[in-house]
Amino acid sequence: MSDAVNPGSGAPAVSLADRVAVVTGAGGGLGRSHALALSARGAAVVVNDIGRDTEGHGSDDDSPAKRVVAEIEERGGTAIAHAGTVDTTEGAESIVGAALERFGRIDVVVNNAGIIRDQTFAKLTADDFADVVRVHLIGTANVTRAAWPHMRDAQYGRVVNTAAGAGLYGNFGQSAYSAAKMGIVGLTRTLAVEGARRNIHVNVIAPMAVSRMTERIMDEELQKRFRPEYVSAMVAFLASENCAENGRIFELGGGYYSRVAVVQGEGVVFDDVPTPEQIEERLTALSDVSEPFEAAGSDDLMPRLRQRLAMS
Ligand code: NAI
Repeated sequence: MSDAVNPGSGAPAVSLADRVAVVTGAGGGLGRSHALALSARGAAVVVNDIGRDTEGHGSDDDSPAKRVVAEIEERGGTAIAHAGTVDTTEGAESIVGAALERFGRIDVVVNNAGIIRDQTFAKLTADDFADVVRVHLIGTANVTRAAWPHMRDAQYGRVVNTAAGAGLYGNFGQSAYSAAKMGIVGLTRTLAVEGARRNIHVNVIAPMAVSRMTERIMDEELQKRFRPEYVSAMVAFLASENCAENGRIFELGGGYYSRVAVVQGEGVVFDDVPTPEQIEERLTALSDVSEPFEAAGSDDLMPRLRQRLAMS
């Protein structure tokens, strides 16, 4: 690791020297930018991509991943291309297997691969819904699962997952995408709890950046501003040993960075089962989140609930 110091915090400079990272969906867009950013900090990178179109159609093509590997090598970095799919356990195992075989370890997983099939819920087919969830949510679980035992054995790991504002807040025409992305948030939160003891930190980003996925919905000014590199700087930090964060949600794009939190309000207490009318009467009070409580995991909630219910 580097001896350089981060002048902002006094902590060591962010270094990924001797680290091995997998970035899924890294043949273009955000994934390519993440792979370049991790490589620039010294990581050896498995650039995974199956080279499909935005909706996940088309035949597998390893040329986008190979092009990114060539870019990394031109800049003096180390990388290999891998065209396995994240949405099967075999594909995911072969992606992580490539890291182990070529570089002997796996320290970082950036789950970034994704597709969209935008359609109102009324028109979205069950197959399209399932495909979107399979690539984003099951894909994220598959690749992380393949890396998890190696990270546990090494007592070290950094996983960066990719959600979206559509999942956090909802967006017209993106029911499957939103469900998958919020599923990734839930997965992240529990893996953070399970991984903490082994120094495995799992965080999730909700990015905004220009890519083939978003160029149609961004005007020229937004396209200029929302460079993927802004997102990748955060990914490089979250992928590093410097990152003590665990189970956090970060929303970022175009130079804006913010943590997003799931919070519980003060709430109200009924000492007997209320009628629906009594619930309606107290709706404003029970909806109030002006004094938010943030739990690090479900275990944090029971003591608070006992206290609120005046139980011993
Ligand atoms: P993109 O379409 O350029 O990149 C997605 C990549 O994933 C593609 O290269 C595609 O070939 C690959 N991919 C698709 N299915 C795969 C599979 N089964 N296995 C391996 N690779 C697969 O789009 P972009 O914008 O770079 O998106 C990256 C991630 O960021 C996605 O998860 C997306 O949902 C998320 N995101 C992006 C936002 C943005 O503003 N660009 C906003 C919110 C989330």
